[in-house]
Amino acid sequence: MEFLIPLSDTEGPLFQQVYRGLRRAILAGTFRAGNRLPSTRELAQRLAISRTVVLLAFDKLLAEGYVEGRGGSGTYVSASLHAERPIRKEGAAKLRLSRFGRAAAEAAGTVDFPGRRPTPLRYDFAYGGRGNVDTFPFEMWRRILIRHVQKAPARELDYGAAAGSSALREAIAAHVRRSRAVACEPEQLIVVNGSQQALDLVARVLLECGDRVVIEDPQYQGAREIFRAAGARLFPAIVDDDGIDPDTLPQRARIAFVTPSHQFPTGAILPLSRRLALLKWARGAEAIVVEDDYDGEFRYVGQPLESLQGLDSEGRVIYIGTFSRTMFSALRIGYLIAPKPLVPAFAAAKWLCDRHTAMLEQETLAEFISSGMYERHLRRVRRRNTTHREALLGAVKKYLGDRVQVSGEGAGTHVVLWLDRRQSEQAVIARAAATGVGVYGTAGYFMDRPSRPGLILGYSRLNERDIREGIRRLSEVL
Ligand SMILES: Cc1ncc(COP(=O)(O)O)c(C=O)c1O
Repeated sequence: MEFLIPLSDTEGPLFQQVYRGLRRAILAGTFRAGNRLPSTRELAQRLAISRTVVLLAFDKLLAEGYVEGRGGSGTYVSASLHAERPIRKEGAAKLRLSRFGRAAAEAAGTVDFPGRRPTPLRYDFAYGGRGNVDTFPFEMWRRILIRHVQKAPARELDYGAAAGSSALREAIAAHVRRSRAVACEPEQLIVVNGSQQALDLVARVLLECGDRVVIEDPQYQGAREIFRAAGARLFPAIVDDDGIDPDTLPQRARIAFVTPSHQFPTGAILPLSRRLALLKWARGAEAIVVEDDYDGEFRYVGQPLESLQGLDSEGRVIYIGTFSRTMFSALRIGYLIAPKPLVPAFAAAKWLCDRHTAMLEQETLAEFISSGMYERHLRRVRRRNTTHREALLGAVKKYLGDRVQVSGEGAGTHVVLWLDRRQSEQAVIARAAATGVGVYGTAGYFMDRPSRPGLILGYSRLNERDIREGIRRLSEVL
């Protein structure tokens, strides 16, 4: 019989290697129950090793019950072996997924995570989690990071606090108090791996299966799928030009997930009157409001509106922020600011998930913020986004005119171009891609059927000339 013994590992004594090779061959079904193994002499010859080594390997297989001797006629794979251990057939085992596992697998199949394109396009209006890598002062960042790597005392390289580095929590709390009017102490802040982890923690800490969760419609699918996977009953709330309408919300809900500074994806800015109405509704509905302030640093028209969290007098709002948009998304640092009574549960949940966020990056970021570099970087990014936005709006007006309706231009880093109802979103996206222009559909963000076709265009990455040329090309395919 022709055979192959996969002696692929070379660890340990030689007889162990032969033993492992034979055992693998038996388990993989190369030698089946009742098959005779090659003789020790034959094996020794083939492998060019001493027969004693092979005998030792056979002894071990015998002792463990993989093989049996039959008088003088040789060594056989134990007859009982494959009855209990069938031949390996990948995918044959029935592995059941949990509810979360099923929901995650389903989401992976249906959710088109934003801005991902297999081949980059020349004029790619990518958005969503795209930071400002062109303006980011990587040299400074690198210097601080290296210093922390080299000089970190041993205790900084040990496990850290689940809620995050105290220097970073203080630096972020000071920043959001000033910049977003968030009312918080550093102790209320949990450092997380991006706001996506904050959403996951919210679902773990606050939701029971069957609880009602209000989400905006259209909505950020990363939040929708987390809540769905947690077994929530989703209540899609109407979003109009002013964002979520508090008058249309249900009497009771466990959570309302909102993006008031720049509704995702429509870009609507929730006016003060609605913010107050939403908080009033939450009181009546005994709901917790989860405020995702993913784009809150960028506001172009009117006064920046303070965060919902800052308006809340009852401790009903959980505020979530991220550095993905202002710095770069691979950093994976965000934060959750919880009402004081919820802090221990969130910190414990974070510990259970992954102990804590990487410490050296946290310390680096703490210094980056407290030294004023972050604030300077933000000013640069705001200036840059302002000119990009003007270039985009100017080009849309010039080339597209009233063929599209623009929303979301007051804040953030993307706008939506709503199309005529007769247009097919997918067809426009495909035709635009054929001319090198990357635009993205809104359909995937609606719970069910989209109200109308729309294109999302991020403008933080492309330069002004490319923005104009991209829009000119888009006008030819519309
Ligand atoms: C509305 C919104 N919230 C949250 C996130 C998650 O961002 P991150 O996990 O990178 O902080 C994104 C990313 O695209 C987003 O668009």
